[in-house]
Amino acid sequence: MQHNTDILIIGGGAAGLSLALRMADTHHISLISKGILREGSTLYAQGGVAAVLDPKDSIKSHVQDTLAAGANLCNEEVVRFTVEHGAENIEWLIEQGIEFTRTSNNKEYHLTREGGHSQRRIIHAQDASGRAIETTLEHRVRTHPNIEIYEHHNAIDLITSTKIGHGDNNACLGAYILDRKFNRVEVFHAKHTILATGGASKVYLYTTNPDTSTGDGIAMAWRAGCRVANMEFNQFHPTCLYHPDAKSFLITEAVRGEGGILRLPDGTPFMKKFDKRAELAPRDIVARAIDHEMKRLGTECVYLDISHKPAKFIIRMFPTIYQKCLEFGIDITKEPIPVVPAAHYTCGGVITDINGLTDVKQLYAIGETAFTGLHGANRMASNSILECLVFAQAVSKHILKQAKPGANNIELPLWDESRVTDSDEEVVVTHNWAELRRFMWDYVGIVRTDKRLRRAKSRVNLLLKEIDEYYGNFRVTSDLLELRNLAVVADLIIQSAIDRKESRGLHYTLNHPQLKEHPENTVLRPRGYTHK
Ligand code: FAD
Ligand code: SIN
Repeated sequence: MQHNTDILIIGGGAAGLSLALRMADTHHISLISKGILREGSTLYAQGGVAAVLDPKDSIKSHVQDTLAAGANLCNEEVVRFTVEHGAENIEWLIEQGIEFTRTSNNKEYHLTREGGHSQRRIIHAQDASGRAIETTLEHRVRTHPNIEIYEHHNAIDLITSTKIGHGDNNACLGAYILDRKFNRVEVFHAKHTILATGGASKVYLYTTNPDTSTGDGIAMAWRAGCRVANMEFNQFHPTCLYHPDAKSFLITEAVRGEGGILRLPDGTPFMKKFDKRAELAPRDIVARAIDHEMKRLGTECVYLDISHKPAKFIIRMFPTIYQKCLEFGIDITKEPIPVVPAAHYTCGGVITDINGLTDVKQLYAIGETAFTGLHGANRMASNSILECLVFAQAVSKHILKQAKPGANNIELPLWDESRVTDSDEEVVVTHNWAELRRFMWDYVGIVRTDKRLRRAKSRVNLLLKEIDEYYGNFRVTSDLLELRNLAVVADLIIQSAIDRKESRGLHYTLNHPQLKEHPENTVLRPRGYTHK
C-alpha cells in the first residue's frame, strides 16, 4: 500500500503534535504513532515547562542556568534561541486550551522551581502537566481535517534517494511503516519527514519512560546517514518511586522545589554534603549522590520527605503523586517516599541545525530525538518540553518559507518480503531485550569505568550481529524492530561513552574523573557519511 502526503510526522508527543497543528492549515499531514496517539513520554511529564514568565525573571538568568546545568557544553546560540521563544510558546499552548495551575488568589499562573533553576519559572498543570498538554493537543489534532492519524503504526526505516539509487544528493523521500493491525509494511511518500519519536531510555533496565522510548528515530536517522551527538549523556532522574508494583512512576522534582528533603533510611538529610544547593542541585549531582549513598550503605532506596508541609498544600500541588502513593500504602502527607534513580532522558540524538534540519535533506528531527545543542552535558529540568515546542515552531517556519514542491513523482520501491518467513524462535527477541537492558544498567549507568564500557561493547557487538541475522531472515514485528533500534542506540551510547575521556555532567567515569579544559561534543558519523 502507498500513501502520499506533504508532511510525514513520526511521533505523537509534544513535538509531533505541536508541529502537526502548526502546519495543518497549509499542508496535508500524516501523523504516525506506534501505539495509541497519546502514549509517549509527554503524557507522563509532571513538573511542567520552563519559560521566562515572571517579570522578576530574565532571559539572561534562564540562559545562564541552562548553560551551568549543561556543564559548559551547551550551544549558547541555541540556548538563547530556545529561551527567547519560550514565553510565546507557552502563550500558544494556552491558546490551544491548556489550563495551567494558577496561584491561590487565581490572579496569575503559579510557577514552581526545579533543580538548577535560580528562579521560579516552571509553569505547570498541578503535577500532571504532560497529560494536560498531550490530551489537549491530541483533541485539536483529532479534529483537524488536514491531519490523518495512523495509530499502531511502527516506522521501520526512512527511504532516502541514496538508498534507492536516485541521485547522490541524499534526501528523505518518506518511510516504510508497519501497520501492526494488518501486519503489513506500507510506503509513505512525503515531501518532508519529521522524526519526533522521543528518547531512548528503554535501553536501561530501570527507567521513568513508557515503552515507546526505544530510540527508533535516532536509529533510523543513523541508518539513513545522519550524524548523532552526545549519546553518552543519559540523564538519570533522582527520584523514581521505589516499590515492587510501581512500574516507572516518577516523583517530580517539583516536590524538592517545594521543600522536599532527601533522607537516608535513618532520617538523616544528606544532600548538603554533596552540593551547597542541596536538593536543588542539578539532576546529575543529585542522582550521583543518591547512588553513592545507596552503594555506601547497601540500601535499596533513599527517601524523599515533604511531610513537614501542610497536608492541604501537598494534596493541592501533587494530587497525582498523592493518589498514586496512597495506592501503594504510602501517605506522603505523613511519611517519606522511598525513591531510587532511573534512566529518564536522552540528551544526545540526531544532529540538527537551528531549523531542526538534519544532515539528510527534507528530514527534520525534533523533541527528545534531536540533538540541537540545548542541553549540553546535562538537561536542566523542564527544558525538554520547551525544546519540543520551540523546535516544532522552528521547523514549521522553515518549511513554510520553502516553495511547496510539486507532486511526489519518484517511484518508491515496495517493501520486499520475498526472502523472509515468520519467526519460530520469538525467545531470541525477548532474551536479547532483557540482556541488553541489564548490561546497559550494570555497565553503562550512573557511574562508569573503562572496563565496564569495554564489557558492554563486546556484548553489544554480539547482539548487533545476532539481531541483524534475525532481521534478515524473519518477518518484522514491533518487538523485533524496537530491539533492533535499541541495540543500535546502545552501541552509539557505549561508543560515545568510550570516546569521552573525562567526567562531565551526566557522564561520570572513575578512570577519568577530571574535566578537560576544552570540552567538545562527541559526534559519531555513520559509515560512508559525506555532508553536502
Ligand atoms: P514523546 O512524547 O516520547 O513521543 C514520542 C512519540 O513517538 C510517541 O507517540 C511514540 O508512539 C512515537 N514513536 C516512537 N517510535 C516510533 C516509531 N518507530 N514509529 C511510530 N511512532 C513512534 N520534560 C519537561 O520538560 N518537563 C517535565 O515535567 C517532564 N517530566 C517528565 C516526566 C516523565 C515521567 C518523563 C518520562 C519525562 C519527563 N520529561 C519532562 C521529559 C519530556 O516529557 C520528554 O522529553 C518529552 O515529552 C518528549 O516529547 P517528544 O514529543 O519528543 O516524544
Ligand atoms: C520532573 O517533574 O521532575 C521531571 C521534569 C523534567 O524531566 O524535566
